[in-house]
Amino acid sequence: MAKPTRLAIIEGSTRVQRQGENVSKWFTNYVQQNPRFEIDLIKLADMDLDPVQSQDHPRSGKYSPGVQAFADRVGAADAFAFVTPEYNHSFPASLKHALDSCYAEWNGKAAVVVSYGGVWGGMRAAEQLRPILSGLGIATMRDSISITAVATHFPPDGPPVELEPVETVASSLLVELDWWAQALAAKRAVDPYP
Ligand SMILES: Cc1cc2nc3c(=O)[nH]c(=O)nc-3n(C[C@H](O)[C@H](O)[C@H](O)COP(=O)(O)O)c2cc1C
Repeated sequence: MAKPTRLAIIEGSTRVQRQGENVSKWFTNYVQQNPRFEIDLIKLADMDLDPVQSQDHPRSGKYSPGVQAFADRVGAADAFAFVTPEYNHSFPASLKHALDSCYAEWNGKAAVVVSYGGVWGGMRAAEQLRPILSGLGIATMRDSISITAVATHFPPDGPPVELEPVETVASSLLVELDWWAQALAAKRAVDPYP
């Protein structure tokens, strides 16, 4: 049996009262039931990322201590799950900033997008994220996980509700993510990402 896939779940929203915390908590709990994955939940709100303009070019690998701490966790992962809301038909600047903060640590890995929002379920954010991930050498899964009318699934005084259809999609996507992550990890081990 192959080693578990190390999955970094990246909570993209940094708003103080964010639904992102509910979504990433639900997704983390869901994935934790699957022994194929070891999880690191990275909340961007807790990270100390410099303005990209104040750094050396991320391709240099020279990072400030705060960015290094983030890059170390990204580098330790085989796969990513980007938990993203939709802001004005795209993903939030906080997530773009994090993606721009390091470079080599993203390369040659697999990712799935977990989006949420109103009636569109953050699908516009998810689709706009794809070319950025491609630019970082990240392979995204064909489908994505999407939660419409996000607030209705996370009542303030109780557990998440009516997420079973989303979990059905997540179940098959995790199989695909594990396949890609293992294939890429095996390749990186013998042949560094070019
Ligand atoms: C600046 C801003 C822009 C938004 N734009 C959209 C949008 O384009 N489409 C949508 O479905 N929801 C939109 N929303 C609603 C968000 O999907 C909803 O507030 C969600 O809870 C935001 O995620 P967060 O709470 O984790 O930050 C927007 C919210 C904010 C704060």
